[in-house]
Amino acid sequence: MKILVIGSGGREHAIAWKVSQNINVDKIFCAPGNGGTASENKCENVNISDGDVEKLTEFAAKEKIDLTIVGPEVPLVDGIVDKFRESGLSIFGPAAEAAKLEGSKTYAKNFMKKYGVKTAEYESFEDADSALEYIKHCQYPAVVKADGLAAGKGVVICNTQSEAEAAIKSFMIDDIFKGSGKMIIVEEFLEGVEASILSITDGKCIIPFISAKDHKQIYDGGKGPNTGGMGAISPNPYCTKSVIEEFNENIMKPTLNGIKSEKLDYKGIIFFGIMITKKGTYLLEYNVRMGDPETQAVLPLMESDFVDLIQSSLDGKLADFDLKWNKGASCCVVAASKGYPIKYEKGFKIDGLNNVKNIFASGVKKENGIFKTNGGRVLCTYGVGENLKSAVKIAYDNLEKIKFDGKYFRTDIGE
Ligand code: AMP
Ligand code: GLY
Repeated sequence: MKILVIGSGGREHAIAWKVSQNINVDKIFCAPGNGGTASENKCENVNISDGDVEKLTEFAAKEKIDLTIVGPEVPLVDGIVDKFRESGLSIFGPAAEAAKLEGSKTYAKNFMKKYGVKTAEYESFEDADSALEYIKHCQYPAVVKADGLAAGKGVVICNTQSEAEAAIKSFMIDDIFKGSGKMIIVEEFLEGVEASILSITDGKCIIPFISAKDHKQIYDGGKGPNTGGMGAISPNPYCTKSVIEEFNENIMKPTLNGIKSEKLDYKGIIFFGIMITKKGTYLLEYNVRMGDPETQAVLPLMESDFVDLIQSSLDGKLADFDLKWNKGASCCVVAASKGYPIKYEKGFKIDGLNNVKNIFASGVKKENGIFKTNGGRVLCTYGVGENLKSAVKIAYDNLEKIKFDGKYFRTDIGE
């Protein structure tokens, strides 16, 4: 088999690594990939951007790719699955209509409401005047969300009316997200702990993966600005048996009913971002792709073959698949460039990469055989252990062997 993995992050490196373990896979192309995927078993990078749907389709047809796996959300929302299918190419992911579950928060919240998925109360707005009027009387804190994709920057938790006003003006009037914030929702604030439940669907059933927990803020103790994610653990210790039961009944089952009733073409990943509160477990959002860095913690625990799992979704036979997980726990810790997520430098030499096996690269490039930093989040190391404590220790011991100027990481992942 020839596989194409689309994307350039640590998530895509983890996907390529897991896929490479299938004995029927001969070759994996990563478009565009990174310095880590360039060195991964069976892998070769292809210089096509993950947003260039036309060129990706041409490439997959020319190379007779047997299966394409899409990492990030943007090409999914842009309709890459529809385009590949029209060209007779096999691709794993939701069609554009289904990808609106991530691509439009208004669509997603209306879907949740229609099918009785437990979620925060909300109002949606298409014009700034009505939104500004509404926030004069709503409860605080309130959460203002841009409707469209905003690279993780489209959510503001507002403690006062003036904060909400500023968010609404920047999203709807100043148009800082170039169209993505022209519509917004204002949502009830939920207090609790978050969990990430990645899952796979074939449109007829949903199989949840082992739970995970992201660590979004830049500093220890969950302080400072949000990042793309500074580390993850799996399973998530807050996902107790009763939380999972609640998730199944109030979130997963009604979502599946919605997917079936709307006849969504959905053979792909559905990732539930949930909030566990004193009032119960709520759905915050759907993502239509795997999480980063959750994937880097979850895939090392997957005992089953990932290609076989994906194939059973594409064949509509997911209900028969016996998805197995290794015992124990896993942890990944991200090393970032000093100054991330605000301002940082790139191009520093990375030492130690050849001494550590458990690495997924993201902002890493390989130049004349030398690895250099090439982004805010540079790489993560991971560990799998018989319990969380031992997994955390392995991840940190690995991270210590990696050296580059300005290396920054949180010291409390998994605490
Ligand atoms: P979202 O893109 O909807 O997942 O929002 C990004 C982040 O904002 C979430 O991971 C939460 O940390 C936070 N968030 C979103 N919605 C709410 C809410 N209703 N109450 C509290 N925090 C929220
Ligand atoms: N780690 C959160 C996300 O991928 O959306």
